[in-house]
Amino acid sequence: MEVLLCVILASIATSHGYIQIASRSPIGTLYRWKQIDYEFATPEARQEAINNGQFIQANVIPLGIERWKDRVFVSTPAWKKGVPATLSSLPIGAPSESPRLEPYPNWDWHNAANCTGFTSVFRMSIDHCGVMWILDSGQVEAFETPRQICPPTLIAINLNTDTVVARYPIPSEFVLQNSLITNLVVDSRDVRCRDLHVYIADAWRFGLIVFREEDAAFWRFSHYSFYPEPLLSNYTLHGLNYQWSDGLFGMSLGKYQQGDRPLYYHSMSSSLEFVVATSVIRDPARVSNAVGEFKLLGDSRGADGQVSAAAVDRNGVMFFNLISRDSIGCWDTRKPYSSRNLIIVAQNNQTMIFPNDLRIDHEVPQMAWIITNKLPMYQFNLIDPNEYNYRILYLDPVAVVQNSICQPEMINLSEYNYTF
Ligand SMILES: *[C@@H]1O[C@H](CO)[C@@H](O)[C@H](O)[C@H]1NC(C)=O
Ligand SMILES: *[C@@H]1O[C@H](CO)[C@@H](O)[C@H](O)[C@H]1NC(C)=O
Ligand SMILES: *[C@@H]1O[C@H](CO)[C@@H](O)[C@H](O)[C@H]1NC(C)=O
Ligand SMILES: *[C@@H]1O[C@H](CO)[C@@H](O)[C@H](O)[C@H]1NC(C)=O
Repeated sequence: MEVLLCVILASIATSHGYIQIASRSPIGTLYRWKQIDYEFATPEARQEAINNGQFIQANVIPLGIERWKDRVFVSTPAWKKGVPATLSSLPIGAPSESPRLEPYPNWDWHNAANCTGFTSVFRMSIDHCGVMWILDSGQVEAFETPRQICPPTLIAINLNTDTVVARYPIPSEFVLQNSLITNLVVDSRDVRCRDLHVYIADAWRFGLIVFREEDAAFWRFSHYSFYPEPLLSNYTLHGLNYQWSDGLFGMSLGKYQQGDRPLYYHSMSSSLEFVVATSVIRDPARVSNAVGEFKLLGDSRGADGQVSAAAVDRNGVMFFNLISRDSIGCWDTRKPYSSRNLIIVAQNNQTMIFPNDLRIDHEVPQMAWIITNKLPMYQFNLIDPNEYNYRILYLDPVAVVQNSICQPEMINLSEYNYTF
């Protein structure tokens, strides 16, 4: 296994000027792939899947990442034809640096002919009791000729027994025409994960869907802060120009204190971060009565400040993927969301092209897990199969912010020289 320690030098100045770079970044590569492959029952079964078009290797892209104990879970959405399995697991200590994905919980869930199995899993969020909540979009071939073959569905899998324990199709009244339900974050609080809620983002129809496990109820908020910013919808990445108008996307939960907890969120095509109290969105009575509760957090992240996923660690430090800057940023949630308090902890224009998902696990000490997947290149069929295109990275959230403004104890701003 290749373990890579890249140290980002403090002296690297950004040409963009909004976010500075931290002094040292302990970050490693768990796995990397040129192309994704699966563990089929036999080599013949693999060859047969290739021959009959069920497995088209170039069409498989990893998207979501989660970690539980000695495994990581990876989703591979059915965005183009030929994705034989949409959710897989991998041991953390595989001998190969490009291990084959093992369909999870087993192949049967990926071969089910109707909506009893998995269709196209986007992302996963694991609660601290060991249940993985997965978001199945129910849609196939989104990058070719999109077909909604099953309703978007929330599925719960017990990771101790590897069994699907519940599935909750999102009721059609909360799924609008052309909705793209892309992301989820589970809010589990007490020891036994009672009173569990899941927050779900609709990036194309700009909604926040809330799920309450207790009675399997759903409701949906709309708000103008879920929309994209026009100019931030125009992306340029490594010379490739494209337009994505994605709204509400990244969500992360702050610390639970005094009976409440903030949900930080942003649209993907945006440079702004917002916050809402979860006590507000957990109350279905507030659906059309909460417009003033969704608040701008602070400064803009600048012209190339689009962020996909974000997560907050136990120390209250948020990490976020800067998709137009091949970078991961941090922010200590106790400090104002201002330019001087946002820094980059990792940046690499070869190994970190399009950091897409980012999750922080429940271990002690915690680790952050990131998937980088060159999504724009995949969309335009520009993936070079001779290069490493897809990576699972990890970073130590405590070490990575040492002696930087993201370190919680670090409060004396005058210790640091910032250039803008
Ligand atoms: C759906 O799949 C289940 C389990 O494989 C099967 O029992 C059922 O008959 C199928 N329904 C349809 C309409 O194909
Ligand atoms: C979009 O970005 C391209 C490339 O940077 C630029 O040429 C174009 O003017 C931009 N469009 C708008 C509306 O800003
Ligand atoms: C990547 O970064 C290096 C070092 O900053 C720079 O020399 C190189 O031109 C960059 N390459 C691309 C493709 O941006
Ligand atoms: C902050 O740091 C500066 C420079 O090291 C020092 O002069 C000042 O006393 C510090 N302030 C506090 C409150 O610690």
